[in-house]
Parts: sequence; structure tokens; C-alpha cells
Amino acid sequence: MGEEVTYRVGIPVLGLRGENFGRLEKVLFSESRHHVTGLVVRSLDSLHIVSLEKVTSVSGTEIRTRLTAQELHQSPAFDPTQYEEVPPWFFPPGHHIELGALVTIKPLDVRELGESEALSRRTFMGKSVALLATAIGVSLLVPIGGYIMAAATTPVTDNWRDLGVKLQDLPLDEPVQKPFRAVSVSGWMRVPEERSVWLIRHSGVSDIWSESEDEKLNLDSPLEKSHSDPRLTVLSPVCPHLGCEPQWHKGQKLFICPCHHSIYQLNGKRIGGPAPRPMDQLPVRIAPDGSISVIYEQFAIGIAAKVRLA
Ligand code: FES
Repeated sequence: MGEEVTYRVGIPVLGLRGENFGRLEKVLFSESRHHVTGLVVRSLDSLHIVSLEKVTSVSGTEIRTRLTAQELHQSPAFDPTQYEEVPPWFFPPGHHIELGALVTIKPLDVRELGESEALSRRTFMGKSVALLATAIGVSLLVPIGGYIMAAATTPVTDNWRDLGVKLQDLPLDEPVQKPFRAVSVSGWMRVPEERSVWLIRHSGVSDIWSESEDEKLNLDSPLEKSHSDPRLTVLSPVCPHLGCEPQWHKGQKLFICPCHHSIYQLNGKRIGGPAPRPMDQLPVRIAPDGSISVIYEQFAIGIAAKVRLA
């Protein structure tokens, strides 16, 4: 298999006869040899390393391996303490990692690489971090002034937010991320914030997607229960694992979180990754003319229960 390949984290890993072994979790890269050496496959709750020689094809939608299921489970377990996470831009041209996924390189073997090259890499990483910290510091100065001005002029109404979009204008069974401006009130401070929600208009009121996973698992509070609509599901953009933002991947028809690869279906149901519960559903109100209003709520992350934050 050539090196010009795109690794799409989250896609299924299949055996030669099409058996589903799990999903691609990470890509292993040898810095000293400068090429991909293996893939980390999440199979049920364990992570196994599949060496690249055992991979027969990688396409945009699947990876095929010549391993049998038994051989996969006998493959070495992935031990994260033995590797170093690097961002996709660290890879040289010819290695494409999609979904902003974390990728992994083998730890530097100084004997293989040579002292001076190892040192220059460490210096490079150190400089990158320092540059990033400076950029973050400078970028914070500008919005602080903007927030103070906007806070003084943004009206506070009730908690319902009219999103300025109508039900009939949304595509069917295709999530749309809708940004809006809200005001968060803390003591005497009113701080305008850019927020967003996912809107999913269902093609049928009785299909499997029209009932959110929260409803099925009875995670919703009376507020969400009394303000739901079978025609539309509204999901929080916040991943219930550690608070990143899952993105919709049209080709796979899945939400995938770029941070630790939690994977969710159209209705928010978690089907993979470390998230402890589905994506959180939010209360929604649809006016007779189709206008959509929501209440933006935040919930505790990292726990199975859906606990609203005050
Ligand atoms: S924050 Fe989404 S999977 Fe960890």
C-alpha cells in the first residue's frame, strides 16, 4: 500500500469477508522511519494495534485487513503511555489525517534518530508551544473590549431564543448547526456569548430518529419533556465526555467528536468512544408559522446522568 493515503478516524475496520472488527481510533507514525507503521482499532472496549502490513486497503469509508477476528484480538494492546500524541499538521506531506483527530507517533528513539535531530525536534515543539501561547494571549485582548461593549447593548429577554429559522426551511434528516447570540448572566455581569445548537428535522414522525436517545433512556427533565416536538430534535453542541464539539460527517452520517472520538448517530445516540451518555437534547418550541425557539442549557460533563448546571 502506498503512503499517499487519507486516514479517516472513526471509519469501520473490516475483515476480508466484510466482518466489522471495530473503528479506527488512532494512526501510529514512526518519526524516525517517517512513515505510518500501524493503526489502532477500537474493538468493543479494547484498543489493538494492527500493523500496516496487515492492512490491505484504506478508502474514505472503510479499512480492510487480512486479519481474522481472533488474530485481531491477539494483536498487541495499545498502551497510550508508550506513545506521544501529536496534531495532524505534524505529519509530513503524503500522510493525510482527517477529522482533526489526535494521531500518535512512536516515542523518539534517540539511538535510531541521532541526538542532534532528536534535540532539534524537541526545540521545534517547544517553540511551537511558546508561539501558540503568545498568539492566545494577544487574541484575548481584542474580544475582551468587544464583550464589554456588547454586554451593555444586548437586551436580556427570557431564556427562549428565537433562532431566526423556520422548520420548513431545514433539510430533512440532515443536521444543521445554527449559531446564535446569547447573554450569560453571572451576578452583575452580562456577557454576550456566541453559541450554537444542532437542528435535526425528521422526515417521519415515527422513524427511529424522531425520538431522541435522551427520551428513550428517560434522561430528560420535565422541561425537555414538555418542550419537545417529534418533527425536530435540538442537540447541544457540547460533547458530554469532556466538552469538545462533535462534528457532523455527512458521508458517514455520524457525529464524531474530534477530541476522543466519541461517535453518535443522527438522534444523538452514542455508538462509540468514551462519552458516558448521548448528546444532550434541548427544549424546543415551534410556532404556527414554523419559527424555532430553543432554551440553551448546559449540563455536567463526564457523568452518565444529565444534570443541568445552574
Ligand atoms: S470530549 Fe468528546 S469524546 Fe472526549
